[in-house]
Amino acid sequence: MTKIDQTAEWKNLADHHRKIKDLEIAKQFQQDPKRFQNFSLAAANIFLDYSKNHVTAETMNLLDTLAQAAGVKERRDQMFGGEKINITEKRAVLHTTLRNFDQENSPEADLVRRELKKIEVLVHNIHGGKWRGYSGKRVTDIVNIGIGGSHLGPAMVVAALKPYATELKIHFVSNLDPTDIADTLRHLNHETTLFIIASKTFTTQETLANAMVAKNWLLGNISTKSETPLGKHFIGITANSEKARAFGIAEENVYSFWDWVGGRFSLWSALGISIALSLGMKNFYELLSGAQEMDQHFRTAPTEKNLPIILALLGIWNINFLGATSQAIIPYDQYLHLLPAYLQQLEMESNGKSVNTMGDNLSYKTAPVIWGAPGTNSQHSFHQLLMQGTTLVPMDFIIPLGSHNPIADHHLVLYANCLAQSQALMVGRRQNEILQSSADKNEERLLAKHQQIMGNIPTNTLVMDKVTPRSLGALIALYEHKVFIQGTIWQINSFDQWGVELGKKLTQGLIPILQNDESPEELDGSTRGLIDLYQKQNISLLVNK
Ligand code: F6P
Repeated sequence: MTKIDQTAEWKNLADHHRKIKDLEIAKQFQQDPKRFQNFSLAAANIFLDYSKNHVTAETMNLLDTLAQAAGVKERRDQMFGGEKINITEKRAVLHTTLRNFDQENSPEADLVRRELKKIEVLVHNIHGGKWRGYSGKRVTDIVNIGIGGSHLGPAMVVAALKPYATELKIHFVSNLDPTDIADTLRHLNHETTLFIIASKTFTTQETLANAMVAKNWLLGNISTKSETPLGKHFIGITANSEKARAFGIAEENVYSFWDWVGGRFSLWSALGISIALSLGMKNFYELLSGAQEMDQHFRTAPTEKNLPIILALLGIWNINFLGATSQAIIPYDQYLHLLPAYLQQLEMESNGKSVNTMGDNLSYKTAPVIWGAPGTNSQHSFHQLLMQGTTLVPMDFIIPLGSHNPIADHHLVLYANCLAQSQALMVGRRQNEILQSSADKNEERLLAKHQQIMGNIPTNTLVMDKVTPRSLGALIALYEHKVFIQGTIWQINSFDQWGVELGKKLTQGLIPILQNDESPEELDGSTRGLIDLYQKQNISLLVNK
């Protein structure tokens, strides 16, 4: 395998970048009146305007040849075909099977269908009041206990689709910090609460600790000890049913997903039960159908008209040729407020890698730091740095055409704000535009320097009619595929996450040290000092020493 940065296609892009590095995005619109039409496309009800990027038609052609050289199409077919492309864990990557309603029979498809039927029954029984707590009361509150991929996707979708929510109240507990579960349980009635313990491995420390708190809370609240209430109040979602049963979850309450579904790609599976309970089955299927539509587009559209491929290639251009190390996600929709956090795991856990699939160290950048917040809040906190800071931060603006809460002209003004930001980031404001003809005094010149905005910052704008189950499904699938395509071009395995293991292991070593009042000499000075502080439970002993 030729390293991607040694290929002619990569070198051509580097040469091309040298030629066009001074290109002004805004001027491209004067040169090409059809730039907006030429640099935009739509699929599965998601419209992408990428005309405000630092690209020309030649850039897009060269990027397209890079995608071909990297074997994006071949690898896509391998993924959909169930090949074990997660090579370090020897697993297939088949989350698309979870939402493929048209597929032929296969062992995976059969498992998916069976599990969906089981979920339908569960949702029906809880919504219809057939499932009752140990004392005979209906379920009013669901608590999803999970972390990472077993939390972020469902939490984001439930928040994003709040207008579709049923009366059931859905809560999420993820953090090991006891405040998370304590704050949640404080307001709940044990007789009407159902806990979902969501963990692919069912070994995750945070989840098991919180699940144990929930179990003790339930048992501690029950006066008649003759009851065995867990069966009425706990379900498990896992790829490790044995461990779920060992925790005490009744066999019939264990819902499955499989090792060919990565945790951060699992919201489409049983792992999304909290979504199905929040929205009902019909909307859950709509979410899956939106994703399926995007999958279908990704599989069949030519590369130059392929939304996930274009989005991925623009990222590659920004990161590997323009030098961006960060990417902001700004949804102009309050319901999408958890989207940046969700995409953080999706992109950074998948592509935060520094060796290729052959084990060679990489000589180029991979995943950028993903971050963001909803607009317009973001405008009043960090857009200053984006406009005038020293770091290049490409941005994805995401905005629906309509609001679920139309009040006066709020949404129109919101839309104007979104457009104004990408416009300002592109056109900037030069000193000579700020200075009036009379303004030749030193003070005014200095002020103009402070007010200048260089512009030329690349942005994408993604638009949908409304945030609906269908459009959200398509949007999530779009980003999933973007991550996969970028991983393919970077020649890395996007589907493992070995980097998080070391911290878990070291934690296990530190727990007995903290418990036993010891401080092994082989530890580094900083860790020992901080252990000491915890053991003495007194900061003043070390402050001002
Ligand atoms: O943080 C590492 C990780 O393994 C994630 O990949 C995963 O989504 C999360 O922990 C939770 O894992 P599990 O679902 O097995 O509890």
